[in-house]
Amino acid sequence: MSNQTTSVNAVEVRNVYKNYNEVEALQDLSLDFPKGELTSLLGPSGCGKTTLLKIIAGLIPATSGGVIINGKTVTGPGPDRAFVFQDFALLPWETVIRNVSFGLELRGVAKSEKGSHRRKIYCRCRIGWI
Ligand SMILES: Nc1ncnc2c1ncn2[C@@H]1O[C@H](COP(=O)(O)OP(=O)(O)O)[C@@H](O)[C@H]1O
Ligand SMILES: [Mg+2]
Repeated sequence: MSNQTTSVNAVEVRNVYKNYNEVEALQDLSLDFPKGELTSLLGPSGCGKTTLLKIIAGLIPATSGGVIINGKTVTGPGPDRAFVFQDFALLPWETVIRNVSFGLELRGVAKSEKGSHRRKIYCRCRIGWI
């Protein structure tokens, strides 16, 4: 049986270090996020919360150490994780339609399927008139 089915943790952070040049944002951090539970990260500004979330999301690499999600080592972003940015993170050079569809593209939804998905999402966002 693989770790994927036996682990009690959805996310395992193992000995993670992250340096931004001379800034040591994370130093030998190990944490477990149990499956089926809501976990909050609390700490003063600048202690590395966002850095850790970005590493878990696969948006930036750790300097060393690793993150295991459902038994698999994180090597980049994936459809099993979502990241809500603190600030607006739209693609300002793209149309509303492309911005709304971008999540579907990341999830590999076929272009042929996108029409009906889009329409549902437009209605949910109250822009069904587009
Ligand atoms: N892209 C970056 N380049 C250089 N330093 C950064 C960068 N992002 C964060 N830092 C620094 O890393 C430390 C942790 O930042 P951050 O993860 O944003 O903390 P928090 O989310 O807890 O406020 C801070 O000292 C911050 O200034
Ligand atoms: Mg932050």
